[in-house]
Formats: sequence, C-alpha cells, structure tokens
Amino acid sequence: MAVERIGFEFEVYNSINDLLKEDAELLQKAKQTALNAYAPYSNFFVGAAAILNNNEIITGTNQENASYPVGTCAERVLLGVAATIFPNIPLKTMAISYSNKNGNSNHPISPCGMCRQYLLEYEQRVNQPIRLILGGQDGKIIIIKSVSELLPLNFSANDF
Ligand code: THU
Repeated sequence: MAVERIGFEFEVYNSINDLLKEDAELLQKAKQTALNAYAPYSNFFVGAAAILNNNEIITGTNQENASYPVGTCAERVLLGVAATIFPNIPLKTMAISYSNKNGNSNHPISPCGMCRQYLLEYEQRVNQPIRLILGGQDGKIIIIKSVSELLPLNFSANDF
C-alpha cells in the first residue's frame, strides 16, 4: 500500500493594484461584467472575462432560471461563447469575479465542480492550460496556473 498526496501552488495578491496590467484589466472586466448577470433567485451575480490567444476578450455571466437546475454558471456561458465565436482558439487567462447582493464580495470564489469539469475539457480540446484569476469586488486575489490543478484525479476523454 502506498499513500500519495497531491498539492499545488497558487499566487495570492492583496490588491488588484499588485497585478500585472493585463491581469488587472481582465479582473476589472470580470467585476464589471458581474453586474450584467441574471441572478434574481440567488442574488449572487457572477462575471467572467477571458483573454484568448488572439487577444480578443470575451465575457460571460450566470444565467438563472425559475426552474433552478436550468441555471448556468458564468464560466460555462463564457466557454460556450468562446467556442462559438472563436472555435479552437485557446484561452490564455480567465478572470472570475462576483457581486453578492446578500452579503460581502470581498474574497475570491472558485469555479464549481461542474465548471471545473467543463473548463478542464476546454483546456484539453485546445491543448493549452487556462490560467485563472479569482477575486471579488475587493479583497485578496488568487492566480492559478491551470484549471487542471483544481481537478486532480479527474475523469476525461483520456480515460477511454
Ligand atoms: N455561480 C457561477 O456562475 N459561477 C461560480 O463559480 C459559482 C456559482 C452561480 C450559479 C448561481 O447562479 C449562483 O452563482 C449562486 O450559486
């Protein structure tokens, strides 16, 4: 029997002012984009902004529904847009932010399990890691090198 451990490193910044200019602009875009979300049920407005290899920037927001499970997260909305408008062009970086109308928006949120799976397949299909910038409207910011770090021991098309 062997016991193994998986861990990963990520960067933590105290303020958007400490980010590289391109990263700060992308996070700013995600923060603004969150305000366009359709989230009347949770009041949790999420915005995602991504810069592609061709330097185009695209955005996504969560889209909720009276039939709750029908709702879609901002990350998957963004990837659907990316795949439709710029098929096969990898994403360099995705910034994710939010505005919680019922509370604080002062810490990073991380993609949900379903989005991690979806993001992972996007990395694999275009063969390039997606870097993630996670931050609220203020507070600390986390940068992760690749979505795959968030989904260790994952299931993917490589398994069959
Ligand atoms: N949500 C996202 O859009 N992205 C995340 O990373 C976390 C959660 C949405 C789903 C739902 O509309 C609301 O936030 C509350 O869960």
